[in-house]
Amino acid sequence: MSDALAALKAELARFGADNDAHETARGRRMLNITADTGELLSVLVRFGKARRVLEIGTSNGYSTLWLAEAAAAIDGHVTTLEYAADKAAMARATFARSGLEERITLVHADAGAWLAQAGNASVDLLFLDSDREQYAGWWPQLRRVLRPGGLLVVDNATSHAAQLAPLRALLDADAAFSSSLVPVGNGELLAVRNG
Ligand SMILES: C[S@@+](CC[C@H](N)C(=O)[O-])C[C@H]1O[C@@H](n2cnc3c(N)ncnc32)[C@H](O)[C@@H]1O
Repeated sequence: MSDALAALKAELARFGADNDAHETARGRRMLNITADTGELLSVLVRFGKARRVLEIGTSNGYSTLWLAEAAAAIDGHVTTLEYAADKAAMARATFARSGLEERITLVHADAGAWLAQAGNASVDLLFLDSDREQYAGWWPQLRRVLRPGGLLVVDNATSHAAQLAPLRALLDADAAFSSSLVPVGNGELLAVRNG
């Protein structure tokens, strides 16, 4: 990792922690992943040679930097979806400073609408860190866009287990998926699409 990228990630992590310590309105919080979750994502992208990464929930772009840095190492690309205009603007500014801009496509859109037009089996690794109440409703599209052998990673599987229960039930009932809960950060639910 370049020193400049490491410094940018550290700056964002500090900003997010300071901001979220005093902001109570959910829409104004950054809600960034933990650094060890970033490390896990980096390993998964690199090990899986996941060149087509989709992130749902950009915020100010902290997790995207971890994904894009790993994607760059394997000649991959990250598409990241964010529907809040202020967050999308912050993320755009982050990416412009990162040296990873050409590895990232930031889409300012509602994830449900975007997913509906995305191609079948067009994603190698999908990182889901957005509106948890929508996950079960998005499931048919999430399932459709993930290629066989692809990996779904869902943040907050431990910190917000009750909100993730409907999605977990769908995954558990689906013979095409094998899941594992990894106790890193806020809990990462990993589900690989077997076929
Ligand atoms: C937990 S934050 C993402 C944090 C980010 N992944 C990180 O770790 O730096 C969730 C984000 O999802 C966005 N979001 C919520 N519902 C959405 C939707 N339907 N479509 C796109 N983005 C959405 C929110 O505006 C928020 O910025």
